[in-house]
Amino acid sequence: MTTSYPVNLKHIKEIHPDIDLPLLNDLVRPERPMWTPAELRDLTDAVTSELTARLLEIVRFDPDQRWWARLALTMGMELWLLSWTPAQGTEPHDHGGAAGSFSVLLGELDEQYLFPRGPVTSAVRGVGSTVAFGPDRAHQLRNRSDQPAASVHAYSPPLRPVREYRVLTDFAGA
Ligand SMILES: [Fe+2]
Repeated sequence: MTTSYPVNLKHIKEIHPDIDLPLLNDLVRPERPMWTPAELRDLTDAVTSELTARLLEIVRFDPDQRWWARLALTMGMELWLLSWTPAQGTEPHDHGGAAGSFSVLLGELDEQYLFPRGPVTSAVRGVGSTVAFGPDRAHQLRNRSDQPAASVHAYSPPLRPVREYRVLTDFAGA
């Protein structure tokens, strides 16, 4: 006896119901098992620039704790919408061996980052900017402006726990 399934179970795809649009379904490529930093860059850039209005309808701001929503999950990547009220930010961290990308949807974020044994570098990431990276990079993001900020993040492989550090320079490599 054979059993047939309506979908290929290797190509699992979850999309947030508030953004279950044809464009996002096309972009998440559930058949792709691993995404490069360049592919993640294209993804967060396209989602942020082409779904701006819908994302701004979904996003919420909570001054008591950072807010986030998962927009999509496949076998190969996860996609998140995050918001940052003034002064909200992360601890220094890496992404547990995952590659990543983030694009700024609203406002601006201050990023401090480093590669193993390299210097800590600071940059202001303004609305519309995208930063992609491989596993060998750690960073810390904070909204140092007086306006709310929001950003779209993607990681591959998905569901790798972040590793936090007391200070960025404790990062020795993924
Ligand atoms: Fe991060």
